[in-house]
Amino acid sequence: SWTVSSIVEEQVARIREQVGTGRAICGLSGGVDSAVAAALVHKAIGDRLTCVFVDHGLLRAGERAQVERDYVAATGVRLVTVDARERFLTALAGVTDPEQKRKAIGREFIRVFEQAELDLQAEAGGDKYRFLVQGTLYPDVVESGGGAGAANIKSHHNVGGLPEDLEFELVEPLRALFKDEVRRVGLELGLPEVIVHRQPFPGPGLGIRIIGEVTAERLEVLRAADAIAREELTAAGLDRDIWQCPVVLLADVRSVGVQGDGRTYGHPVVLRPVSSEDAMTADWTRLPYETLERISTRITNEVPDVNRVVLDVTSKPPGTIEWE
Ligand code: XMP
Repeated sequence: SWTVSSIVEEQVARIREQVGTGRAICGLSGGVDSAVAAALVHKAIGDRLTCVFVDHGLLRAGERAQVERDYVAATGVRLVTVDARERFLTALAGVTDPEQKRKAIGREFIRVFEQAELDLQAEAGGDKYRFLVQGTLYPDVVESGGGAGAANIKSHHNVGGLPEDLEFELVEPLRALFKDEVRRVGLELGLPEVIVHRQPFPGPGLGIRIIGEVTAERLEVLRAADAIAREELTAAGLDRDIWQCPVVLLADVRSVGVQGDGRTYGHPVVLRPVSSEDAMTADWTRLPYETLERISTRITNEVPDVNRVVLDVTSKPPGTIEWE
């Protein structure tokens, strides 16, 4: 019969068989899938796994620290963080089209990751990292046509995914699992609740939640608004009731407001709370008015440049969860 510990044992054995005495690399996104996949591989091959975390500057408040501190404390995994914030900002300068943004972010991600791999290889005396660990789940396998290999991973997942010409052999220990099973495996492996029950967050990060050009200043504004929304949702005990709640900055829109005794001319942010089983369809979440009120009051008081908070009441379809 099916038990979580039997899945762990079985996967660990398989990984050992596949990787042999080779070295593996894993890009951590901060998400639950890559975190659990890496923890499994670490259990199987120890320090022959190195995790790489690319800080693209499109992260939410506290995310880098969570990976560097909490995840490493829980797993003992060897982690290399690459600070690529400037590089991504440069690549995103002047880019406003959503697909162009995703492409730019994906392209830079691959370059940074490749360089990190070369550096690690040099450090290991030229010994190649032949295996790439990915947190591909069963629904991803089905969606991408059931085939194996990086080429079949839809563009959606390409941040964290890599192109064909990188000669890696994929290690995908979660390929037979659904999300809830992945979470149970994560808990079995001793990962903290905050990581295991983390809500989904897109690879391109806050970059696709700024409608308009992505700049350092705009990222700071959105990061502050997002942190407040998350704090209040957590304080209200709603984290498990919602699938996720993107906060979107309408950076090219301004509206007139009044605050204190002055006129303001600031930007709106959109709250996009959704309920979903698998993100293929979603319904907008009927959040309690008191929670909405607290979020709205705090964001407009605490985040300069934001003078209006609006609520997205669109289901998916017709809206997607993210705005870009
Ligand atoms: P949409 O906007 O397509 O989002 O309704 C569905 C789910 O996928 C997440 N998402 C992404 N995840 N890379 C990711 O890893 C991406 O490029 C990406 N785009 C959207 C989104 O947050 C939602 O959970």
